[in-house]
Parts: sequence; structure tokens; C-alpha cells
Amino acid sequence: MNAPRIHDVTCELLDFWRLKTQLSKGRPFDVAEDVSQFSFDAIMSAAMGLGPEGGDIRRQMDHLTALRSKIASSAAADLNEIFSFPAVERSAKLEALRVNEDSLWKGFVMPWPTLYHRINNMRPAVRKAGATLRGYIASQIAKAVPRLADDGQPLCALDYVIQREIKAASKENRTPVLDDPRILEPIYGYLIAGHDTSSGSLLWSLRRFLEHPDNQTRIRDSLRQTYADAWLERRLPTAAELVRHNAYLDAFIEEVLRIDTPVVNIMVMTRMDTVVLGYPVPADTRVFLNLTGSSLNRPSVVVDESIRSDTSQTHRPSRENWDDSNPTEFLPERWLRKDQEGKVIFDASLGPALAFSAGNRGCWGKRLGYLELRIVLTLLLWSFHFELPEKGVSWETFDSLVVAPKKCIIRLSEASRDA
Ligand code: HEM
Repeated sequence: MNAPRIHDVTCELLDFWRLKTQLSKGRPFDVAEDVSQFSFDAIMSAAMGLGPEGGDIRRQMDHLTALRSKIASSAAADLNEIFSFPAVERSAKLEALRVNEDSLWKGFVMPWPTLYHRINNMRPAVRKAGATLRGYIASQIAKAVPRLADDGQPLCALDYVIQREIKAASKENRTPVLDDPRILEPIYGYLIAGHDTSSGSLLWSLRRFLEHPDNQTRIRDSLRQTYADAWLERRLPTAAELVRHNAYLDAFIEEVLRIDTPVVNIMVMTRMDTVVLGYPVPADTRVFLNLTGSSLNRPSVVVDESIRSDTSQTHRPSRENWDDSNPTEFLPERWLRKDQEGKVIFDASLGPALAFSAGNRGCWGKRLGYLELRIVLTLLLWSFHFELPEKGVSWETFDSLVVAPKKCIIRLSEASRDA
């Protein structure tokens, strides 16, 4: 159900970047904000649909199209100059989500998070942001109900939730309760947890394309074999075709998540007195867990096996570090092996990675996160060559809810017309 939605919004991104390349006459431009807006469109359309007005990328596209002649005449003579496009305001929904994301990460770094949120939630900007997003969710529910009651097909996550409630209410002979916070809040959670994380992973992936053009070529060539009909017919692979995986792309994505993990650590609370590697930790202690570092993308730390708990010793994974294969190096091939017929396959069990955390608190959007990355990276590589510009390259990162590149300056050229 999600794949066609993500495919649609990715096609808009392709059109948008083609327009930008055309208007800038092939000059490089920064795509960091575009990626954030694209990820918002993707998560919105998967969660509750974008509606006929489209998303933030469509807004920008309309804006640039209207200013087309003005922009084209303003292009500087130097083809290496980074081109800046006139900005258009983000939609009220994306601006609202930004306010929420900002509050959430500030809560992490405050000494008294509960007190901080209590005060912060009284700020007019925060109240307005909540009202904007909850109002939009309520309006999408109102639109979906008559369609679904009339046996319409669910098109997004929200539709499924509503459909289930309509069916349950009909069975119990009662009116469906559709303003229940148990419907609204998880959809809200979907947006907050799925936007910055997907956007950060996508930015890191683009950065790795720029840094490792050999990876771009290898994956693109391999994609043209996996989706051979599409390549023969000189068209994009469809959402249905993209169900088939490509080992090199899967390995690239896994390696980006291992080495450029967007959520670098999480915090949990001990529910009872416990012992970790011989150290007693009392109940109700806040514990930071690293999703990067030793054993994951750094050499492991030597641990005396006898101080591990019995359960840890019984359930030792087959491979618990990358020490013998350069853990700090970006090497997607670490995730590849040959199967019995000698075919190269992707194998996620070849070593540890924790980008989505694990256990009860682990990411429940993991499948959607992977799906989005697979679709968008396939269609981007299929359509464009990503080149590192000669000027203005910045490898700076920002650190908030996620760690991600601050800027992502790229130069694009067409790959869909390659011989
Ligand atoms: C590549 C993209 C993603 C990454 C790297 C990622 C990473 C994570 C991590 C590390 C956690 C654990 C947080 C914690 O324990 O405090 C988490 C939780 C979660 N994620 Fe994701 N995520 C991604 C995409 C998504 C998407 C697309 C969704 C939307 C459905 C989503 C929804 C959630 C939710 C609802 C939680 C649970 C939050 C909680 O209960 O504390 N994630 N994610």
C-alpha cells in the first residue's frame, strides 16, 4: 500500500530536480531542504494521504515554474557557482512538525524534561503547531469516512485504522468513535518519528553517492539488470516492479545506516535493579544506549566473558563485531555473500547494526523506512548521475533529534539517457 504513494512523491522530486537543473543550466545546488520536504511528503502520504493539493515539493515546483523566466536570466556565468533558488515558505503542516521536532529534541538535552515540556507546551507556537497537525488529521478522517463506508479501498495507514473502527462499530451496533486519541496520536507519532529519521538517512545516502561514485555506478548497472524490462523500455521501474530487491542497493543502504546512523543514541529507564557487565544499576535509572560506536562502526571493546550474564552468554550472536573487516570504513560489500548457486546476495545477519534500535522500544517504522530508501534511491540513481561540485562542498553535520548533513550540494546530470 505504501509503495505506490512513495513512488508518486519520488516522481515529483525527480521532476523538481530536473526543473532545477534546467533553470540553473546544470549548476550545483543544495538539496538539504528539498530532502526534508520530500521526506515530509513521503511520510504524510503514507500516513494519511496528501490530498489533491499535493505536498511541499509540489508547492516549490509551482513556485519555481511561475518564476521560470526570471530565474533562468539570473544564472551566473560560472558553471561551478552554487545556484540559489528563490525559497518558498514551507507548508503550515511542515512548519508545525518542525516546531514539534524542535521541542522533542530540546526535551532530550534539558535537565528536567518533564518540566521543560510542561512549560514549552504553553508556548503559542507549540499550541498552534499541535492544532495545525491535529486539525489536518481530523480533516483527513472526515474526508475518508464516507469513502470507506462506501466500500472504498484504504489508501494510507489512517484509512486502515478508520476501516477497522467502522467494521468494529458495525459488528457491535454502535457509532464509530473517530475522534479517539488512540487513532489520532499514533498518526501524529508516525509523522514525528518518521520524518527526520528518513530525511537524515536519505541525506547521508546522497553524501555517500558523492563520496563514492564507484558505488553509484555499480548499483545503477545492477539496477538496470534487476529491472531489465524498464531499462529496455526506457522508463522508470513501477512501484510493483520495485518489490524485487537489488542486493547491491540493499547492502549500500545497510552500510549507510551502520556508519552514518541518524539516531546515534537513545535513552531508556531501568524497570528493576539490574547488573550490566558486573556493574549494578538500580531501578529507575536513565540509561543511554549507543546505536553507534564500539562493535558497530568502531573497533569493539574487550570484555571479560565471565562478567556477562548467563543469558547473554547463552544467546551470543554468531558475529558480534566487525573487527576483522575495517569497522570504520564505508564498505557496502561487507553485507554481501554468495549463495549456494554462486549468486551475490545481501545478508543482514553478516554483522551487527542497530540503526533502528531493537526490542520492544525498537522502531516500528523500520519496514517503511527501508521501503522509502529503496524506492527513492532506485529512482534517483536510475534518473541521475550525482556529481560532487568543485566549489562550496561542506561536510558539516547538525545534531538534533538525528545527526545528518547540514548541506548537501550536488550537481546532477541525466542517467536515464545513458547508452
Ligand atoms: C531510516 C529511517 C528510520 C530510522 C533510522 C529510525 C530509527 C528509530 C529508532 C532508533 C527508534 C528507537 C527510539 C527509542 O528507542 O527511543 C525508532 C523508534 C520509532 N520509530 Fe523509527 N526510524 C526510521 C523510520 C521510521 C518511520 C518511517 C516511521 C514511521 C512509521 C518510524 C516510526 C517510529 C516509531 C513510532 C518509533 C517508536 C517511538 C517510541 O516508542 O519511543 N520510524 N526509530
